[in-house]
Amino acid sequence: MAGMALRPPATLLLLLLCSLLLALTAAGERGRAAYIVHMDKSAAPPQHQGDSYMWFAAILASVADASPHGSRDFPENLYTYTAALHGFAATLSGAELRALRRTPGFVSAHRDRRAAVAHDTTRSQHFLGLSLSSGLWPAAKLGEGMIIGMVDSGISPESRSFDDADMPPVPSRWRGVCEPGQEFPADTCNRKLIGARYFNRGFVANYPGVAIDMNSTRDTEGHGTHTASTAAGSAVPCASFFGYGRGTARGAAPRAHIAAYKVASSGMDPVMSDVLAGMDAAIADGVDVISVSIGFDGEPLHTDPVAVASFSAMERGIIVSASAGNHGGNGLRTLHNGAPWLLTVAAGTVDRQIFAGTVLYGGGNTTQGSKTIAGITAYPASALISATKLVYDEALSACNSSSLLGTLLTARRSSILVCRDTGTSVATQMDTVFEAGPAAAIFITSHVPVFLEYPLPAILIKPDDATGLLKYIATSSNPTATMRFQETFLEVRPAPVVAPYSSRGPSRSYAGVLKPDIMAPGDSIVASWIPASPTARIGETALVGDFRVDSGTSMACPHASGVAALLRAAHPDWSPAMIKSAIMTTASSLDNTLGPITDGNGNGVASPLAMGSGHIDPNSGMDPGLVFDAGPADFVALLCAAEYTEAQIAAITRSSFNCSAGSSSDVNYPSYIATFGANATSGEARFKRTVTSVGEGPTTYRVSWSSPSSVGVSVTPQTLKLGGAGQKATFELKLKLNAPTGGEPAFGALVWADDSGRYRVTTPFVVL
Ligand SMILES: *[C@@H]1O[C@H](CO)[C@@H](O)[C@H](O)[C@H]1NC(C)=O
Ligand SMILES: *[C@@H]1O[C@H](CO)[C@@H](O)[C@H](O)[C@H]1NC(C)=O
Ligand SMILES: *[C@@H]1O[C@H](CO)[C@@H](O)[C@H](O)[C@H]1NC(C)=O
Ligand SMILES: *[C@@H]1O[C@H](CO)[C@@H](O)[C@H](O)[C@H]1NC(C)=O
Ligand SMILES: *[C@@H]1O[C@H](CO)[C@@H](O)[C@H](O)[C@H]1NC(C)=O
Repeated sequence: MAGMALRPPATLLLLLLCSLLLALTAAGERGRAAYIVHMDKSAAPPQHQGDSYMWFAAILASVADASPHGSRDFPENLYTYTAALHGFAATLSGAELRALRRTPGFVSAHRDRRAAVAHDTTRSQHFLGLSLSSGLWPAAKLGEGMIIGMVDSGISPESRSFDDADMPPVPSRWRGVCEPGQEFPADTCNRKLIGARYFNRGFVANYPGVAIDMNSTRDTEGHGTHTASTAAGSAVPCASFFGYGRGTARGAAPRAHIAAYKVASSGMDPVMSDVLAGMDAAIADGVDVISVSIGFDGEPLHTDPVAVASFSAMERGIIVSASAGNHGGNGLRTLHNGAPWLLTVAAGTVDRQIFAGTVLYGGGNTTQGSKTIAGITAYPASALISATKLVYDEALSACNSSSLLGTLLTARRSSILVCRDTGTSVATQMDTVFEAGPAAAIFITSHVPVFLEYPLPAILIKPDDATGLLKYIATSSNPTATMRFQETFLEVRPAPVVAPYSSRGPSRSYAGVLKPDIMAPGDSIVASWIPASPTARIGETALVGDFRVDSGTSMACPHASGVAALLRAAHPDWSPAMIKSAIMTTASSLDNTLGPITDGNGNGVASPLAMGSGHIDPNSGMDPGLVFDAGPADFVALLCAAEYTEAQIAAITRSSFNCSAGSSSDVNYPSYIATFGANATSGEARFKRTVTSVGEGPTTYRVSWSSPSSVGVSVTPQTLKLGGAGQKATFELKLKLNAPTGGEPAFGALVWADDSGRYRVTTPFVVL
C-alpha cells in the first residue's frame, strides 16, 4: 500500500471537491449545488418524530441513491434548521433535487446564495484591502511590467498560478534567462515565469555525499512555488486545500512577472554561496523586487549574504523584502534579515480560520438544542460523523497506547474517542488513535501544531470549550456527538494578531534601527504547491494537491514583496527607501475590533519589536503624503559609525564607498529605537529626520504622539509646512527615559497629520 500508487484517487477526490464549487457557479445537472430545503415537520415518519436530524439524514441517504457518482459520494448536510425554519441546507445534484421533491413532507427548496468574499482563497489579499475596482490594484495595474525575483527553492512551472494567459509580453529590458536543466527544458518559461536559474554548486561543496535531487530550477520542496504564487501568482479559480479555504487564489501583484532563482535543494538548508549567487543574478537580470524567504541566524552584516547582496540591490533601485524568521516566542532578538536597508517582514494572522470543524453534542439524535464547539481540523475530506457514541476514559485520556485504547473501543467503528492533553503531542496521539481505529476523535488541547496530518476524522478543541463536553459524557447514559468538517470560518476576530512564531527584534546584527519593519499575512496562507509531494493523508493513503496551506514569515514576505512591486509600478521614480517608508508609515496598528493589534504570544498589545510599524495597508501606502528617504551613502555612514572595520564595510559596499564622507548612526529611518539597558534610570536619545512631500501641496503637518509614562517625548518643530511634492522638512525627536524599562520594551508612536485630514504619517518608537 504505497502512497505513490494511491495518488490517482486523491487527484480524483480533489477534482470532486472542485466540481462542487463549479456546481455552485454553474448549477450544472451533474455537479452539486447548495440548497436550502424547507420540510413539513408533521410529515415526519413515526420513527423520526421530534428527531429532524435523523429524518433529514435518512432523506439525504435515500435521495443519494439517485446519484451517478457511486457510493463514496453523497449529498452533504450543511445545516439542520429547527428554529428559524424547519428544514436543512445540503448540496444536491439535479437528480437528487428531483428525488427530494417527490419525498413526503417536502415543502420547497431554493438555491443558497454566496457572498463573494466567502469563496476568496486569496483571503490574505482581500484582508489587505486589495480590490479589483479601486485602490492600489487598479492604480498599479496589478503590478503590470514589474519583475519579482524569487530567491527560494525553485518553482513548479506547471502550476496554474504561473499560467501566462493574460500576461503582457516580457519587458524588453529583461536580461535574465530560462536556464535549461533536469526536467526543465529551456522553453519552460512563459510570460509569467520569465526567468529561471539554479545555484547548487555551493550545495555540492558544502554537503559532500548528498545528492542534488533535481539539477534544475524545478522545485522539489514546495516552498518556492508557494512563495512565488503568493507574491505574483495569476488568478486560479477553484483553489483549495482539500476543501478548506476554497476560492480564487491570486498573488499580491497578479500581473507582475516572476523570475525564479533556486538556491535551496534536496530539503537541506541553503548555502550562503548559492544564496549570494542567486541574488547576484537577480540584480544583474534587472528584477524590480527581490523576495527572500530565507535568513541566516546570528550572522554579522558583512557575512550575511542577504544583507550583502541587498546593499547592492538598493544601489540599483531594487527593493529587497525578507522574512524576519520563525523563532518568535516571548524573548527578544530572535530576528534575522535585520539589515537596515532591507524590508524585514513579520507574520500576522488573517481573518479566516481555514481549518475549521464543529462538534455538536447534547441533542441526542437531533441537533436541536445541541451545544456546538468550534474546533480546528484539516481532515482532508467531508465525513459524516453523526450522532456517534462518545468514548472518554479518564485513565486512558492521554491516548498514548493504541492497544489499551483498542480494548476500550469495543465497537471501534461506531465511536468517537476523546483525548486530553497530558503532555503527549497531538501528532503522536493522532497516530496512536488512528491505530486504535475509532470512527473519529476529539483532541482537547491548547497546543495546536502549525501543521498536523489528520489520518482520521478528528477535531481539536480548546480545554475551556471541553468542560461542558466532558460533563455531558460523564452524566449521560448514551453520550453522542456529530462532527462537521471542511468548515473554513471567515471574519474571525481579532485579526490580525502577530503570529506567535514570528521572530522578534531588535536585530542582533544591527540593533540601531527598529526591526522588524512591517507585518504581513503569514498564517494559514493557501498557495500553489508542487504536485509530486503528498500534502495530506487519509489513513495510509497519501494525498497530493496543487495547493497547500502554509504558515510562517516565509509566507508573509512575498505578500510584502508583491505590495512593493505594486508601489514600484505606481511610483516608478521612488527609491527603495521611499517605497519602504510608504509601506511603514501607512501601516495599521489596529485590528478588526478597532483595538490595538495584539501579540499571539499572549503578551497583550503587540510591540513594534513584534510587528514593526504594524499591519501592511497597500492602498494607503500608495499615497503616504510624506516619505523618509535614505540612500546608499546614508547606510555607509551608518556602517562607519558602527564598529565595522574598513574591510568589513567594503564587503558590504564593494569598495565603492569609504568612511571619508563621515559617519552617523542616525539614519533617516521611519521608526526609532533607543537602547539604554534594562537597569538604566535615566537617558536621552535624539533622532534627526527629514521628510519629503510626495503629496499634493502646500500642506501643514502637525505632530502628536502616544507614549508610556516611562518615556518623555519632545519634538521640534511641532509643525511642518511643505510647499508641495519634492519639498523637504526636518524635525528632531528627543526620547527621555524616566524610569527603568526592566528589559521590557516601552513603546509609542509619533503621528504627523496634515491639516486636510488626508494623511497620517505614523512612526513607532521603542525604548529598551
Ligand atoms: C547540473 O547540470 C549541469 C549542466 O548540465 C552540470 O554542469 C552540473 O555538473 C550538474 N550538477 C550536478 C550536481 O549534477
Ligand atoms: C438515537 O438513535 C439510535 C439508533 O437509531 C437509538 O438506538 C438511540 O436510542 C437514539 N437516541 C436518542 C437519544 O434518541
Ligand atoms: C501515558 O500517559 C500517562 C499519563 O500522562 C502516563 O502516566 C504514562 O506513563 C504514559 N504511557 C506511555 C506508554 O507513554
Ligand atoms: C574615499 O572616497 C573618496 C570619495 O569617493 C575618495 O576621494 C577617497 O580617495 C577615498 N579614500 C580612500 C582611502 O579610498
Ligand atoms: C540589572 O540588575 C539586576 C539586579 O541587580 C542584575 O541581575 C542584572 O544583571 C542587571 N542587568 C543589566 C543588563 O545590567
